[in-house]
Amino acid sequence: MEEFYRDVVEGLNKKNKTLPSKYFYDTKGSQLFDQICELEEYYITRTEIKLLSKISEELAKIIDNKHLIEYGSGSSKKIRILLDSNSKLKSYIPVDISENYLLDVCEKLEEEYPLLKINKQCADFTKKINLKGIHKNDNKVVFFPGSTIGNFTEKEIIIFIHNLIETLDGNGEIIVGFDLFKNKNIIEPAYNDKKGITRDFNLNILKRINNELGANFVIDNFKHKAVFIKNKSRLEMHLISKIEQNVKVKDYTFNFKKNESIHTENSYKYKEKVLTKLFSDYGFTEGKAWKDENNLFAIKHFIYQ
Ligand code: AVI
Repeated sequence: MEEFYRDVVEGLNKKNKTLPSKYFYDTKGSQLFDQICELEEYYITRTEIKLLSKISEELAKIIDNKHLIEYGSGSSKKIRILLDSNSKLKSYIPVDISENYLLDVCEKLEEEYPLLKINKQCADFTKKINLKGIHKNDNKVVFFPGSTIGNFTEKEIIIFIHNLIETLDGNGEIIVGFDLFKNKNIIEPAYNDKKGITRDFNLNILKRINNELGANFVIDNFKHKAVFIKNKSRLEMHLISKIEQNVKVKDYTFNFKKNESIHTENSYKYKEKVLTKLFSDYGFTEGKAWKDENNLFAIKHFIYQ
């Protein structure tokens, strides 16, 4: 059974139904996510971009003369800030799960940066990645912006860190951007935007299951819900069934009660110490940390040797 089908069946068979958020990102989902990043309510992207620009000289020193591996490169917008800083890279390795999107973006990047060696890899960065052409002692830095780490549970972060250490072959660094814990009055509107782009992004996962697995979800029978759960430090996204209904996904039929939820995403909002502890517990040394002036977002550098 292919992985996507297996994950969908496993998630929808649970007592509390779930779907893994990594499946948001087909070509349409990646485009919707880009639109989210431009939304007035979605403070995360613009805050991180502003912070990256502010600290670009410091980051340039960290990445200089190294292989720069970007996890979840998407539109590769943020990397341009680093590419335009004063550093010379050994290579840039964008890693993304959405193949067509990755190819399109890299084509543009190759035109813009003709001297840069780009070694794109379509892969799932939650797993160990075989970095083509990189050797054990090569200097490498993973750039993991966008608070994507916030979409992992603590258990998933631990697995991610283990796989990262293997990908780095026991030697390397990471620069990670994450959204900070704050008042829900700032967080919730970012996931309930007026234009309904986040709603479409959430519902797109059902369209993708229809398109790729021949399921028969009626999209209008589900509604978007996004709520901040303070004691879990996370924003949860759900799709709520508006009616009692059955949905077929290939050989399986799933029953949905009225108001039953499919939990589609967690977006953790970290206190700085909590995230630092996770990396230090697994052998990373703390480098520098930066925050924006409103304490919304943080970027941290960790080293593994
Ligand atoms: C990619 N990730 C950090 C986004 C977030 O904020 O958790 C995904 C997203 N989901 C809804 N809006 C944006």
